[in-house]
Amino acid sequence: MTGPLSKKRIVLGVTGSIACYKSIDLASKFTQAGAEVDVILTDSATKFVTPLSFKSITHRQVVTNIFDINSELAVNHVALAEQADIFVIAPASANTIAKLANGLSDNALLTSVLATKSPIVIAPAMDANMFENAATQRNVATLMSDGMFIAGPAKGRLASGLTGLGRMVEPRDLVGVTEMVLGKNGDFSGKRIVVSAGGTQEAIDPVRTISNRSSGKMGYAIAEAARNRGATVTLVSAPTALPDLVGVRTIKIESALEMKEVLGEECNDAHSIIMAAAVADWRPVRTLKSKAKKSNKETWKINLTKNPDIIANIDSISSKESGNIVKVGFAAESENIIENSSAKISKKGLDFIVANDITAADSGFSVDTNKVTIIHADGTIEKLPLMSKYEVGNAILDRVKTGLDFK
Ligand code: C5P
Repeated sequence: MTGPLSKKRIVLGVTGSIACYKSIDLASKFTQAGAEVDVILTDSATKFVTPLSFKSITHRQVVTNIFDINSELAVNHVALAEQADIFVIAPASANTIAKLANGLSDNALLTSVLATKSPIVIAPAMDANMFENAATQRNVATLMSDGMFIAGPAKGRLASGLTGLGRMVEPRDLVGVTEMVLGKNGDFSGKRIVVSAGGTQEAIDPVRTISNRSSGKMGYAIAEAARNRGATVTLVSAPTALPDLVGVRTIKIESALEMKEVLGEECNDAHSIIMAAAVADWRPVRTLKSKAKKSNKETWKINLTKNPDIIANIDSISSKESGNIVKVGFAAESENIIENSSAKISKKGLDFIVANDITAADSGFSVDTNKVTIIHADGTIEKLPLMSKYEVGNAILDRVKTGLDFK
């Protein structure tokens, strides 16, 4: 299974900041994602972490000294810069940021940056006062106007013991930023994609809800794939245990009615709505204001009323700027998959529906893989093999793209 970083050549620049220890984790995450990671350490970075730490993880040479005659990479640093798909400088110290803003090249990292045409991600990490300093702010603004992507810094506890803006963005999020920056001119750039995810929760009282087993993984994977192809993505998410996706505007809702309201707004100027959420079919007629007391009765009847069909009520010709909207639905079925799914296409006005057999162990809720059948409005049926949910996301987007070209 291939992911967005598979076979990508990443140059990871590490500079002198206590956050260096996190870049060992970042190198590991990049490597695990299938990227070829070449690490360049500045002199001060080697005071915090050793080249060996990175070499053990990346299994590749690590550059520290541009004049090291024994290092093939150091000698060929310009080739390294030319071959890179992306540069990620994490952590980026105030000193390196200042040098970058002025085009200096007095070490291996800076020289390689000057020699590259690849996109560059900068993850500043420093004391809050250093970051707020007028000179640093000026330098960061220069890097932005030079076209570099500045990730963070984040707010939080700093090495000084103080809390402020200066923490390096977490490695997991930097992986997301790297994927996003690599894909920013992708085939969905300029397209606005709305994705729904998770299982809605219908409140019985302030404590109890009626919900379902949807993990949200499929919707989040679609949103991630769309972001990595350059789309502007809005994710409308019912409660899930999943971490937020960097670069994806996420609107959190709980109930079907809340989801309906938000989607109604968001779909106005969207090119596509991909409705991966498991919307509860029913909700309590009324939600109690305070927690219902446990009574001595053996049974408890709750009156339910039907939720509106959200996707069916999204008008496929309502979009103002983008023309017709491509509507994609999901069908979680346990029997007569094709028959039941086909009926939903016309009932809900869909372009196509993604059906999965929720009884299969490697498909459906909670797992990271899915085996889906895509059924089109014209009756065409495509049975796809078992894939990661991310790959299913891309397969769906491929078909959305065909739909957009056609409309
Ligand atoms: O009708 P059924 O729930 O099987 O259809 C599933 C598809 O319809 C999914 O895409 C789901 O997100 C969407 N749906 C909806 N509003 C509902 C119920 C389901 O948009 N009330």
